[in-house]
Order: sequence, then C-alpha cells, then structure tokens
Amino acid sequence: MALLEVHHLIKAFGGLKANDDVSFVIEKGELLGLIGPNGAGKTTCFNCIAGMFPPTSGRIVFDGQDVTGLPAHEMARRGLARTFQVYTAAGDLTVGENVLVGCFMHTRSRSSAKSKADGILEQMGLKEFRHQLVSELPVAAQKRVTMATALGTDPKLLLLDEVAAGLNPSEIEATMAGIRRIHAELGVTVMLIEHVMELVMNISHRLIVLDYGRKIAEGLPKDIARDPQVIKAYLGERYVREHAAEIGG
Ligand SMILES: Nc1ncnc2c1ncn2[C@@H]1O[C@H](COP(=O)(O)OP(=O)(O)O)[C@@H](O)[C@H]1O
Ligand SMILES: [Mg+2]
Repeated sequence: MALLEVHHLIKAFGGLKANDDVSFVIEKGELLGLIGPNGAGKTTCFNCIAGMFPPTSGRIVFDGQDVTGLPAHEMARRGLARTFQVYTAAGDLTVGENVLVGCFMHTRSRSSAKSKADGILEQMGLKEFRHQLVSELPVAAQKRVTMATALGTDPKLLLLDEVAAGLNPSEIEATMAGIRRIHAELGVTVMLIEHVMELVMNISHRLIVLDYGRKIAEGLPKDIARDPQVIKAYLGERYVREHAAEIGG
C-alpha cells in the first residue's frame, strides 16, 4: 500500500521550476533513494512533502489523506519526520536533551518520553555521548543525533537529506547500519537523498532520479546505474567503468 503519493508536483521560485511535474509513490516499508546533481530539486521535493512550503501545484497524499499545503508541524503530527541537509541539532543542548525533545511529540509524560529517548539513543549508538553537548561531537555522531531526534516523533515516514555527506568510509558504514536498523527494527519507511553512491545504491530498494527539477528515471539501483540518461546527467562514465562488475555493465 502507498504511504506517500506525489502527483504532478510543481514548485516554482520566481521563474525557476525547482520541481517540475514530479510524480512518484513510496510504498509502506520501502527504502527509497532520491539522487541527482546539485540543484536538481531534491531538497525542494522534501520541503514540499514536509510542509516547509506549499507546492505551486500538484497533490500530495500521505497515509491515504490529501495533505497538500499542510504546514510542517501538522505533517510532523501525522507521522512525517525529516533531517536537514544543513546540520540543525541544537548544539547547546546535550545529545540526550536533543533526542528527548522529539519524544514529547506524542506524550506529555516525562518518564515515557525519557524511556523512549533512552531506547533510541541505544539504537543509534549514541548512549555513550548522551551527556555531551552536541557541538562537541564528531560530525558523524552529530548527524546521528538529528536522525535520533527525528525518530523520537514516531514517524511513519523518515526523510533523510544527505546524512552521509562528508563522512569517512567507516562512518558511512555506521550510518548505513543505523539506517538499516531504523528500517528493520522500527519499521519506519525511509526516503533518502544521498550523493554517497556506495550507500544509496546498496541500501535503496528503488531509486528516483531528478535533473533540472524533472524526474528522469525511476527503478532498481542496478538498472538506474546502467541508464544512459542517468549516466549522462549525473553518474558519469567514470562511475560506470569503476563499478562495471557490480552493475553487470
Ligand atoms: N527557498 C528557495 N528560494 C529560491 N530558490 C530556491 C529555494 N530553494 C531552492 N531553490 C532553488 O531551487 C533549485 C533546486 O534546489 P534544491 O532543491 O536545493 O536542489 P538539490 O537539493 O537537488 O541540490 C536550485 O536552483 C535552488 O537554487
Ligand atoms: Mg539538497
């Protein structure tokens, strides 16, 4: 069953269509990757889904209900959580406090929010950092804090915007494991924007590719990696040469 349907989404900023007639569906339980060059409209697509700003036209259906134009706090209440490309956890709060904030979305009880936060800290490998200020952590751990805070709200759908950008290989590995746990253990449907191909190609059930605001391809990672239009717009010939064995070029 579809958890999210995006129908003919257009988002214009003045004369620029950052999203230009984009349509896709996310099934419940899916792990969907969104890729494409810088400026392709990926973050804008997340912003429209998450209610940061209303679409210029088009329709968004979440969990069976038309949510087009609903504000971000209402989308959050309905089960949509997201992280931001530019890092946004509160640096002057501790890791534990950051995660606790999200946990108050559906409860007023401090003890139940607290026990939930503890579970999430454990799952995201952040327990050892709980009393530290977020600003004191390595970037990789800071990014896990934003994921953990989003999870505190009990999302049905989690949107991750470049959570592996700037991480080293072992940190990417840890982030990938974290996303897999969120998906498998918490049953959260995930959509992720990512430039780290190793992560997005491995983790995604399906990929959507944007270029100049338009959807240019959609399909299994192995098919996307061989799609001439995607290679031309984004992946490049070099990627294909270096990964020929995996994608069966
Ligand atoms: N709030 C905004 N106001 C004006 N232009 C914007 C805004 N947000 C994004 N854009 C423009 O929309 C296009 C797509 O941006 P974005 O969605 O951030 O791309 P991506 O995340 O794929 O790199 C870019 O040309 C960007 O400059
Ligand atoms: Mg972006």
